Amino acid sequence: MSTDSKNESVKETDTKRERVYIFDTTLRDGEQSPGASMNLPEKLRIAEMLETLGVDIIEAGFPIASNGDFEAVREIAKLVRKPVICGLARAGTKDILRAAEALKDAERKRIHTFISTSPVHMKHKLQMTSEQVMEAVIGSVTQARNLVDDVEWSPEDATRTDHDFLCATVEAAIKCGATTINIPDTVGYCIPTEYADLIKMLINRVPNIDQAILSVHCHNDLGLGVANSLAGIAAGARQVECTINGLGERAGNAAMEEVVMAIKTRNDMMPYDVGIETTAIAKASKLVSGITGFAVQYNKAIVGKNAFAHESGIHQDGMLKNNETYEIMTPESVGVSETTLVLGKLSGRHAFRAKLEEMGYQLGANALDDAFKRFKDLADKKREVFDADIVALVDDEIISENERIRLVSLRVISGTEGPQEATLTLEIDGEEKTTTSSGDGPVDATFNAIKALFPTKARLELYQVHAVTKGTDAQAEVSVRMEEDGKIVLGRGAETDTLVASARAYVNALNHLLVKRERTVPPAMDVLEGDIGA
Ligand code: KIV
Ligand code: ZN
Repeated sequence: MSTDSKNESVKETDTKRERVYIFDTTLRDGEQSPGASMNLPEKLRIAEMLETLGVDIIEAGFPIASNGDFEAVREIAKLVRKPVICGLARAGTKDILRAAEALKDAERKRIHTFISTSPVHMKHKLQMTSEQVMEAVIGSVTQARNLVDDVEWSPEDATRTDHDFLCATVEAAIKCGATTINIPDTVGYCIPTEYADLIKMLINRVPNIDQAILSVHCHNDLGLGVANSLAGIAAGARQVECTINGLGERAGNAAMEEVVMAIKTRNDMMPYDVGIETTAIAKASKLVSGITGFAVQYNKAIVGKNAFAHESGIHQDGMLKNNETYEIMTPESVGVSETTLVLGKLSGRHAFRAKLEEMGYQLGANALDDAFKRFKDLADKKREVFDADIVALVDDEIISENERIRLVSLRVISGTEGPQEATLTLEIDGEEKTTTSSGDGPVDATFNAIKALFPTKARLELYQVHAVTKGTDAQAEVSVRMEEDGKIVLGRGAETDTLVASARAYVNALNHLLVKRERTVPPAMDVLEGDIGA
């Protein structure tokens, strides 16, 4: 299937070989995952990273969902110039106008509008007949297309939709000007052969299908998000919707790094071009997990800590003789460098900045000063400072910029003789406050002190510690998950001192909670409010 004349805003990047467009939805579908809320500076950093990665389209948010989402889409549209910037909208006038307004300053813009088409969604969620849904498709796509040239339409829950109705709605959407048709496996229900057949069915039955790019959007409830996406591409789709680290609601979306590296590594079987700078993948993964607090599982394909580690003797022996014995892609190709000793305690600010730049970080003067101070503290405590230590430290610094609550100091009395006691100072909205609390163990005492200084109803649901590098002087990376009124947030902190890392993680989660409290997501984000079409 040729992409010629289908989509003006991405057409210029076409090459002779068939191009698969990468549509990243980390900032929209990814952010919908419970606990993954991000503030504006964090979203801007991720958007810049996505541009560095070379994604074709960034779905920057859902502008009607909250002022924060609107602001994020608007600022990303101003800042990021190369990729198409996309805003999501339900099939309603207000949603579509809000999306167009947020995208106003984008160099290249897309409105992505959607409505459910499956019987179960139409009946129970929308309480609409199929005739009303068809009317909404026509109204919404027409309205969006009057505002922008690049319109994507999605039949939500497409994979559980009646085929005749799916074909009719897709045909209508294209007739009204949709340039991309996305086929979501919203509930992650499909298996690869079935999803491929659905894409082929649309190609065979929808008469004007050649006037739009077909897109795949697969959730991972059965662990098949990437497999289904690749099956859809093999069947003729030319856009894939995905997220960094597979972030997303429930089990997440198809992981971008897996889709891209599968196409690159098995280009003999999937002869498509993707415009991704793969050497930026590891850094993008680290940035997203650092900002959201969602740790990447150790054995995760491509970006897991163990993805390129060879532990067994037989494997190590083979690797020493020839890398190809057990390696199908190089760690360098995804930006994983050998863990090297980088700097020592005598290294100066200049060397530290040069190292950061080499690793792809560009910090402002204040952030650099803070990071350097923390590096010096770390180098004093730790014999060897590795790349991974620097990444943990700097990501922590980036996350803690713009936070309302900051950890100033912590002193803990611990040991066999109780009670354990923590004396803690926090800066809250610029004002320093100190307290001493006891608890059932040093972590409990520390968390009690934080709660005394910043009381919330939030409940701690998870507390997890792991070491960033090897050795007893390794930095501890602590993750916490909290819940308040159904809102789930995560926090992360890294330090050689596990208790300080724990306090940082808790404070980081509180900052995420404050961001989340400001957001006013509509009760059911994809249910219309009596406002259908143009
Ligand atoms: O999974 C889904 O159906 C979606 C749509 C909004 C495209 O995310
Ligand atoms: Zn989705």
